[in-house]
Amino acid sequence: MSGFNFDVITLFPKAFELINNLGVITRALDNNLIDVNLHDLRNFGIGSYKQVDDKPYGGGSGMVLKPEPIYNAFDSIEKLNNTKTLLMTPQGKVLKQNDFLRWSSLDQLIIICGQYEGFDERIRYLADEEISLGDFVLSGGEIPAISIINGLTRLLPGTLGTSNSLLEESHNSSLLEYPQYTRPQNFNNMKVPDVLVSGNHREIELWRKEQMLKRTYQRRKDLLRNDYLKQFDKNEYSE
Ligand SMILES: C[S@@+](CC[C@H](N)C(=O)[O-])C[C@H]1O[C@@H](n2cnc3c(N)ncnc32)[C@H](O)[C@@H]1O
Repeated sequence: MSGFNFDVITLFPKAFELINNLGVITRALDNNLIDVNLHDLRNFGIGSYKQVDDKPYGGGSGMVLKPEPIYNAFDSIEKLNNTKTLLMTPQGKVLKQNDFLRWSSLDQLIIICGQYEGFDERIRYLADEEISLGDFVLSGGEIPAISIINGLTRLLPGTLGTSNSLLEESHNSSLLEYPQYTRPQNFNNMKVPDVLVSGNHREIELWRKEQMLKRTYQRRKDLLRNDYLKQFDKNEYSE
């Protein structure tokens, strides 16, 4: 074993083929910076039908994941020293960039993906944290799990070319990133701002800082600290 370990309990391991085609993650796998171990829940199913789900007590539509297969899959996973277990659920805490930073100092994340109408309530006891990708409902926990693998992997040392790009991007500070441009300088009459081609690094830095504040004010006022807000409520950023 080497690098950061992701151990995922899932009924649909094939969904994770995506990570073999995702640039940064694929390189991290090739360079042994991460290991992604998929634990097929079906292998822990009960009886000759390998049953993993059942009807909910008390009635209701759909099927619910049974506790025994998930507990057995969980027990089969080798636990590293510094490990946490995450349960994917729309009832969890909504995922934030800061969660990736917190988890990046661990050795291992065990991620449990739900399916169907959800899971037996007793499965919650396995989890250190319950995580939601957002306030919407998907059919399974695989896409949230892939999002976590992706977001965390790009923070691990050795995965991205420069750490500066990480520091400046949206959500690492409480501000959104400034607008980015590349060639051509004039595309369909939409021109790159003069300051960016001026060669004046001090001016470029100031322009970028101003754009970060302006963008955050216009799009995600909720992210701004109170002292910023007081300053901007008085001036031109509210256009
Ligand atoms: C159709 S959902 C079940 C939702 C469940 N009936 C409820 O209301 O909480 C099936 C599974 O998909 C996953 N899932 C769906 N939406 C999610 C979200 N926003 N974040 C994380 N996981 C989600 C969870 O693992 C969930 O158990």
